[in-house]
Amino acid sequence: MKLCSSTLSIVLVLLELFMIDVVSLTKLPITAAALNVKKPLAKAVRAEDLLSFNHYVKTCPQAEGIIQQKVGDWIQKDFTLAASIIRLHFHDCVVRGCDASILLNHQASERRAFASRTLRGFEVIDDIKAELERQCPKTVSCADILTAATRDATIIAGGPFWEVPFGRKDGKISILKEADMVPQGQENITQLINFFQARGLNMLDLVTLSGAHTMGRSSCHAFKHRLSNFNGTRKPDPSLNSMYLNNFLKKKCKNDLDLVYLDAITPKTFDPMYYSNLNKKLGLLSTDQLLKSDKRTGPFVTALVSQPSLFESQFSVSMVKLGNVQVLTRPNEGEIRVNCNFVNAKK
Ligand code: HEM
Ligand SMILES: *[C@@H]1O[C@H](CO)[C@@H](O)[C@H](O)[C@H]1NC(C)=O
Ligand SMILES: *[C@@H]1O[C@H](CO)[C@@H](O)[C@H](O)[C@H]1NC(C)=O
Repeated sequence: MKLCSSTLSIVLVLLELFMIDVVSLTKLPITAAALNVKKPLAKAVRAEDLLSFNHYVKTCPQAEGIIQQKVGDWIQKDFTLAASIIRLHFHDCVVRGCDASILLNHQASERRAFASRTLRGFEVIDDIKAELERQCPKTVSCADILTAATRDATIIAGGPFWEVPFGRKDGKISILKEADMVPQGQENITQLINFFQARGLNMLDLVTLSGAHTMGRSSCHAFKHRLSNFNGTRKPDPSLNSMYLNNFLKKKCKNDLDLVYLDAITPKTFDPMYYSNLNKKLGLLSTDQLLKSDKRTGPFVTALVSQPSLFESQFSVSMVKLGNVQVLTRPNEGEIRVNCNFVNAKK
């Protein structure tokens, strides 16, 4: 059994490496050759390839240090912010890419959407931005700040470190309706797979990144459909642990905005408990619990339960991928915002 599952996880890792290789091998040379035209090099390079680890080395070497310091200070005051920052980054990256469009605070912007109403942590990013504007004006993008802050919040919560490449620009467009397309916890797995795939994230990324629900809280609104009359059956969701339901959730959820920990067992630590919870029908959102029962995603859950170190290493890999989704890196794209809440004034 043990041997079997570790073999599976090795296969998964190899598969992942293989898929990355196939994509990068096929995309670049074949398109250029097939078109048989001289293209400027910049066209063949993917936007994310223009990110780099030394982007701010000359212009703002203290940027990462300031971000880390500030994130630490804020989370020390209010630990719940760690999870909220991580979620904010997810909601940023899956709508128009990691371009800080979620931070824009104007009429009908993403931030004003129903799906955004429980997002938190904006004040952390604003505080970091203010300090960076004092030290290196008009240099460090809000999108880069949010990406690095997410890595730092993960570490403080006991999660893995990963290197963040920089050079994202901030977008100028933010549309409320687009934010309402972010999964809310009531989708089926086909919808989740498609949503992730459209952003270059595969099933392993979906299952691994969902592991962020090892931290933080959900409002009852997101899962109340499971508590009674599930899918018109007049009974609760049978895939929800009945002790947990009757002794805990029903008491906790008096109002839509009441909060429940997503990981019922170790809510404040970054660990693979989220996956073992699924074996006990303790997944809080139906989208969490379905990851286990679905034929396509279930094997990934099994692999992550059996090998805790796989979760740490794969979470780093998948978070880098999430942070690179549809980034704006070319000279003519986006801007470095002065205030993360607003696009820069036209000159
Ligand atoms: C797979 C699809 C996903 C769905 C359906 C989903 C859904 C949700 C829902 C409904 C909540 C509770 C919101 C509320 O009512 O307050 C939540 C919270 C959270 N989500 Fe997700 N999520 C998904 C993926 C992700 C990913 C990829 C990440 C990060 C990598 C993430 C990180 C978080 C965190 C950390 C929280 C807790 C936030 C807090 O405590 O403030 N989620 N998610
Ligand atoms: C998933 O949801 C979509 C949209 O609501 C629906 O069309 C599809 O039939 C569902 N698929 C499964 C497997 O339940
Ligand atoms: C919900 O009910 C429909 C029709 O009764 C059924 O086809 C579907 O499988 C049910 N879905 C779940 C998740 O139980």
